[in-house]
Amino acid sequence: MVGFNLQPEPRIVSDLAELHRAGADEFIRCAREAISARGRFVVSLAGGSTPKGAYALTAGDQKDPAKRLPWDKIHLFFSDERNVPPDDKESNYRMANESLLSKVPVPTENVHRIPAELDPSTAATQYEAELRNFFKPKPGDWPRFDLFMLGMGPDGHTASLFPGSTALNENSRWVVANWVEKFKTYRITFTFPVINHAAQVMFFVAGEDKAPVLKEVLQGKEAVYPSQRVRPVDGRLLWIVDKAAAKLL
Ligand code: 6PG
Repeated sequence: MVGFNLQPEPRIVSDLAELHRAGADEFIRCAREAISARGRFVVSLAGGSTPKGAYALTAGDQKDPAKRLPWDKIHLFFSDERNVPPDDKESNYRMANESLLSKVPVPTENVHRIPAELDPSTAATQYEAELRNFFKPKPGDWPRFDLFMLGMGPDGHTASLFPGSTALNENSRWVVANWVEKFKTYRITFTFPVINHAAQVMFFVAGEDKAPVLKEVLQGKEAVYPSQRVRPVDGRLLWIVDKAAAKLL
């Protein structure tokens, strides 16, 4: 499997239901580990459609005392957002709120939504300011998320870091407004240095339509896709993929 870009072995599960189960279990495991080690769990939620089922299972698991989490010690951020209000059907916040946040006793102030109803560069600037206020970094430091959740598109994009977009080469900002030519719109997204300073990054990838790019991303000789630039500098990288997406591996 080892290609030039040295991606870790993916965890292949049989279908979307199992992928959601694996994702929810990993969320709870990481939360427990971070809270016992550092007193809090700081996570960045993935957008798109694939993680929704994992969020719903995580919420459902809270009925089980063995899986219950202290939500007052959990802070939730968003890996990226569409330039829409929070009640828009395209909103990643709305997806996460409907499937998880509205179903668990998380204090409102612990949910750090991207103010994506604003113009994109103001939204990015405000969100970065909120992050810096939260993490209180020393000069030159990057934030360290305990868990950074990501999906991947059929074009190899992740978060809103799309092929050919300017944000791919951002090395000082934490959050930027990124023009996405194919959608003729801006997205607000974390940048690679933030992703790559996480303690753990977890990709969720499902569906046959992603099989060709997943093979390239995991086994390709060249690092040409944005998802291949996710390389934790001092952290763990986990790919959870379903059989359909893994069919060419
Ligand atoms: C978004 C996501 C994006 C997503 C991929 C996969 O806002 O759309 O952050 O990066 O993870 O496009 O999306 P699906 O899970 O819907 O296939």
